[in-house]
Amino acid sequence: MRPAGRLRLTALAPAVALVCWATPGHADQAQIDRGAYIFTAADCGSCHTNVKAKGPPLAGGRPLATPFGTFYSPNITADPETGIGRWTDADFIRALREGVSPEDDHYFPAFPYPSFTKMTDQDILDLKAYIFSLPPVAQADREHEIDFPFGWRFSVWFWKQLNFTEGAFAPDPAKSADWNRGAYLVEALAHCGECHTPRGWLGGSDTSAAYSGTPDGPEGEKVPNITPDTDTGIGTWSSADVLRVLRTGQLPDGDFVGSVMGEVVETSTSKLTDADRQAIAAYLATLPPVANPEAKAVKAE
Ligand code: HEC
Ligand code: HEC
Repeated sequence: MRPAGRLRLTALAPAVALVCWATPGHADQAQIDRGAYIFTAADCGSCHTNVKAKGPPLAGGRPLATPFGTFYSPNITADPETGIGRWTDADFIRALREGVSPEDDHYFPAFPYPSFTKMTDQDILDLKAYIFSLPPVAQADREHEIDFPFGWRFSVWFWKQLNFTEGAFAPDPAKSADWNRGAYLVEALAHCGECHTPRGWLGGSDTSAAYSGTPDGPEGEKVPNITPDTDTGIGTWSSADVLRVLRTGQLPDGDFVGSVMGEVVETSTSKLTDADRQAIAAYLATLPPVANPEAKAVKAE
């Protein structure tokens, strides 16, 4: 009996290991580490943590002022009652890729899924493994203070028909690996366009003027033009100037970026690898230059 029992146990061991590995909450450390980097690059923490009120990480409640009213970010900790602890991998992928909840509700684009839709499945799953490795926090979500004419679900569905294109980033084989990495960081993870691209009717991104800035961005502040236009954009900046602002927040004129960009630098771009900041700079340099005198960038001398 004994040898047979031992044999059965040994045969079972790989199966047990496989089940543990595939069960949420039992992700391996390498996956969690990859997810932590994605989390930093995508800056999920800044919106989902109520920093000003010293709220617990990812428990939500941060007010986000928009022309449509004030949104309050939800709790995205792994708490099963008030957070997303019961979500499957498929639920999490669907939220980021399609902007749809497990209850089939459409999310407001105050959640930047129009950018996150471009993430790879692998990056989304690594990100979930990281978030689920953090301590769950019980904190109920706060209702948004917004006014929509036809009930918000219909409004958002309608908005998505006009303004949202679902789908992962497709690398351009004609371009370098560096350029493709930069495009993925800027367009998908770091969602730079969510603030730097002007918005048209109903708040959809005006892609014909991508990255050319806007006089009335988040919190009603000016967001500068980061296209290579030499008069109104960052066309006079060297690649070292772009790297410096992303690493330290310092502008070519010696001043430092403030407001929400100060936060982006602090929580996200300063913590990226030099190679990734380099890739971002390389990609920005190849954007079509767009003149926007209402959102002038700082000039480099
Ligand atoms: C610019 C602010 C902002 C950023 C950055 C942001 N979110 Fe959100 N997120 C929101 C808002 C606002 C909502 C609520 C949307 C709604 O109610 O329709 C939301 C909703 C969600 C939800 C749905 C939660 C639920 O209970 O249904 C998940 C999951 C989520 N975000 C995850 C993330 C992840 C992961 C990241 C980083 C990749 C991220 N968010 C980055 C603002 C943000
Ligand atoms: C949450 C909104 C937001 C996001 C996301 C964001 N930015 Fe900004 N950015 C701003 C604002 C606002 C300013 C102006 C800050 C100021 O006035 O001090 C700014 C300033 C800048 C500047 C300095 C331009 C100048 O002349 O002052 C650069 C360069 C820049 N951003 C690049 C980026 C890149 C690259 C990304 C993505 C990695 C990014 N930003 C993501 C809001 C944002």
